[in-house]
Amino acid sequence: MAEIVVLDSRAEAGELAADVILELVARRRDAVLGLATGSTPLPIYQALASRRADLAAVRGFALDEYVGLPASHPESYRSVITREVVEPLGLAPELVRVPGDRGPIETAGADYERAIVDAGGVDLQILGIGTDGHIGFNEPGSSFESLTRVKTLTQQTREDNARFFDSIDDVPVNCITQGLGTIRRARHLVLLAFGEAKAAAIAAAVEGPVTASAPGSAIQLHPHVTVLVDGSAASRLANLEYYRYAWANKPAWESI
Ligand code: GLP
Repeated sequence: MAEIVVLDSRAEAGELAADVILELVARRRDAVLGLATGSTPLPIYQALASRRADLAAVRGFALDEYVGLPASHPESYRSVITREVVEPLGLAPELVRVPGDRGPIETAGADYERAIVDAGGVDLQILGIGTDGHIGFNEPGSSFESLTRVKTLTQQTREDNARFFDSIDDVPVNCITQGLGTIRRARHLVLLAFGEAKAAAIAAAVEGPVTASAPGSAIQLHPHVTVLVDGSAASRLANLEYYRYAWANKPAWESI
């Protein structure tokens, strides 16, 4: 079962995730991180930046990218990762990949999968979740075995992401994303969600049936998952009291 941790604020969740990442990097300087974009993981990146740790050897693989936006567009995930992760954390730009960043788009998925395997796999994958339950850009219906590939965004996701663009018409229709199979191969998944708008998606991911209709439910098939949520995002969890109780009684020797 995933470990569900209910925190008082986004900042607290960011600090806790930063602790876990820095413990990993202390064990292995060149750890491989799976990097998520969107507003949710920002507290992690802010916490990491404030710790001023040496992360120059860390390798990164972004979860997803729009197709059809130039990399130089301020809302391309390459630009977002550079602005919000690589620069503030002092990562080496050449060690951070974004899907679709090399070669033709037709072979970009297979190329990305190869690069992840060559790096030894992802040690820790940061994840947000969409209001429609998507992780990465794996929309409802995505196969649990899927690998990095080009997908079509749902209207819901385009509407959710329109806030980053002048109008919804500017939000790309296609994207390239790590698959649910790619994500499931990462050794540790850290899924974050904040706010009431994510409560249904979190309940479906953590407690709902394992179904392609709720891509987040793929986490139930993974042996090492940490879910960091605030009270609002946790509000629809049926076993909420148990999760709080389990966290309060977590053995001191047990790591996250
Ligand atoms: C975006 C991203 C996802 C992200 C999700 C939630 O479309 N592709 O990786 O987890 O939607 O975004 P936010 O964290 O801004 O709510």
